[in-house]
Amino acid sequence: MSDRAPALIRVRGLSHTYEPGAGEPVPALRGVDLDVHRGECIALIGGNGSGKSTLAKHLNALLLPTAGEVIVDGLDTRDRDAVWAVRQRVGMIFEHPDDQLIAAVVEEDVAFGCENLGLPPTEIRSRVDEALRTVGLEALRRRPPHLLSGGQKQRVAIAGVLAMRPRCLVLDEATSMLDPAGQREVMETVLRLRDEGLALVLITHSMEEAALADRVVVLAGGTVALSGTPSDVFARDDVLRRLRLEAPPIVALARGLAAAGVPLPPGLLTAPQLADAVAAAYRRGRGGA
Ligand SMILES: Nc1ncnc2c1ncn2[C@@H]1O[C@H](COP(=O)(O)OP(=O)(O)OP(=O)(O)O)[C@@H](O)[C@H]1O
Ligand SMILES: [Mg+2]
Repeated sequence: MSDRAPALIRVRGLSHTYEPGAGEPVPALRGVDLDVHRGECIALIGGNGSGKSTLAKHLNALLLPTAGEVIVDGLDTRDRDAVWAVRQRVGMIFEHPDDQLIAAVVEEDVAFGCENLGLPPTEIRSRVDEALRTVGLEALRRRPPHLLSGGQKQRVAIAGVLAMRPRCLVLDEATSMLDPAGQREVMETVLRLRDEGLALVLITHSMEEAALADRVVVLAGGTVALSGTPSDVFARDDVLRRLRLEAPPIVALARGLAAAGVPLPPGLLTAPQLADAVAAAYRRGRGGA
């Protein structure tokens, strides 16, 4: 990896301990190292309380390290003067779409972050137009957000972040409140953004979503338990099971078929990949192409 450009986000030895007013301190992260490169999609998975949201909040300076450091595009999140520059570079999308929308109509909502950046109105207008186009919501720009579907609301929230021209988008369970159609529309939107060069950190309990990432990082007890390509990580059934996680159903199905003697290549992750591989095995079995 030494030939790669420097990481967009570099997390080194990051520890975070919550100090609740009452009760014991909670060590939520312990010595986490993570690099996020430009145009890379990282899925961050792990059981409840493993530290995913805490790590996410460090990526845009919503939390500051108890120990270690987080460097975003050369900016240290502990540098008070850099906080707004860090937040402009790393946008966050959270789980509940309603909590993130505040304005009376969609386009005002999308403009909100840019207005906070103090940009001139003409610049804001062109950025809002572009962001709405990117998420495919130009037709709904005058609509009150509360009349939209959950998936549309999340796309409005994404547009608001995009209008600030971030380098990285962090989605903390952004699809978990959505129905399957909403999940699909949000995932298609963010993966298109990845193809356009945006870095993505996708926190998810959906292993099917994690399978679409370039790299999967598994957190457990505030440390990185596993990290690698989706195929590598989902092959580690032993570790996943110990962490109360499991590979996506397609991976389990492919493993079952291979164990039953169907000649399949390793590393199948998605339904289309498995369908193609089974069809090819079937054709070979019949002496076809
Ligand atoms: N504000 C807080 N004050 C005290 N402890 C906290 C706070 N926020 C989180 N924690 C604790 O820190 C640990 C990590 O929490 P975090 O929310 O980062 O986990 P998570 O992986 O996002 O979990 P989930 O999958 O449930 O969203 C947990 O033990 C949690 O109870
Ligand atoms: Mg969380």
